[in-house]
Amino acid sequence: MTARHFISRPSRQVLRQAARLLGRGRLVAFPTETVYGLGADAASDRAVAAIYAAKRRPWHNPLIVHVASIAAARRLARFDSRAERLARRFWPGPLTLVLRRRPGARLSRYISAGLGTVALRIPANPVALALIRQSRCPVAAPSANSSGRVSPTRAQHVRQSLGGRVSLIIDGGACAVGLESTVIDLSGKAARLLRPGGVPLEALSNVIGPIVVEDPDTDERRPASPGRLLSHYAPSRPVRTNAQEPRVGEAYLGFGGCSQGATLNLSTRADLEEAAANLFAMLRALDRPEFTAIAVAPIPRHGLGRAINDRLRRAAAPRRP
Ligand code: TXA
Ligand code: MG
Repeated sequence: MTARHFISRPSRQVLRQAARLLGRGRLVAFPTETVYGLGADAASDRAVAAIYAAKRRPWHNPLIVHVASIAAARRLARFDSRAERLARRFWPGPLTLVLRRRPGARLSRYISAGLGTVALRIPANPVALALIRQSRCPVAAPSANSSGRVSPTRAQHVRQSLGGRVSLIIDGGACAVGLESTVIDLSGKAARLLRPGGVPLEALSNVIGPIVVEDPDTDERRPASPGRLLSHYAPSRPVRTNAQEPRVGEAYLGFGGCSQGATLNLSTRADLEEAAANLFAMLRALDRPEFTAIAVAPIPRHGLGRAINDRLRRAAAPRRP
């Protein structure tokens, strides 16, 4: 493929080409409403293995399978009434359900890293949906970045992070939500929050009742212990959270109107949706050698603020040597 075609606008022809590439076991990066995904045919061992290799992702971290309809999702996993209600209310959208995998489901054994469950979602992005429909296969897709680094919310970010390791990048512009999907585990009796994300927890518990949260943001008795915080979403520069102001040499990522001296501001009107959409792009923009670190203003912890604080905490966690 020529360099000219490496990043492409989503014309009908490009979608056809992308679907063909997926069918041949190749990797295609595509936009979703949350972040860009690194897609492959979820039924193919070889294609799914290529995702792990391109991202340098540890094998024990399972992948989300993207489908275009609830009917397609039901063919892969068992839906109980909680799953039905959540899917009807929030799909297509930034919600991933971890469900018990149907025996005989046409999925690579590498998808779930040996677990009896599978994570499923229908993305709310017309390009993503068109690609899944045309490829006629469930599409496995983690965020299209090297493992542990900041997720991509623009096609350019994918090129910077994964460059020559994908066959095609479809450029659908900036991701509207900007944070990954909320992941809920419904495979057991109690619903559990595995990752806060684009659908606020409050909206989910309104539909299915209490959800078990192991999250230092809400659980006061379980303060964030550095050991539990795997470094993730990490820029090259160190990140300092809950910073009232920058120290000498630091970049300052502000929030709201009173962030004095902010290098960039997540949302001057203190809007959490706007802040979520800006977060990863602004972390990248400030990840420059002239700064000693990126200091980030305090962000409220309700609604999307839970997911924003989760990503920032991990970005600031001690790095692997
Ligand atoms: O918004 C998103 O979810 C994006 C877009 C591309 O859809 N994808 C994404 O994928 O963020 P990834 O691979 O970066 O994160 C998937 C998360 C991981 O935390 C993984 O451990 C969890 O989902 N996960 C996947 N399958 C699972 C399973 N069977 N059981 C428990 N957790 C699972
Ligand atoms: Mg990721």
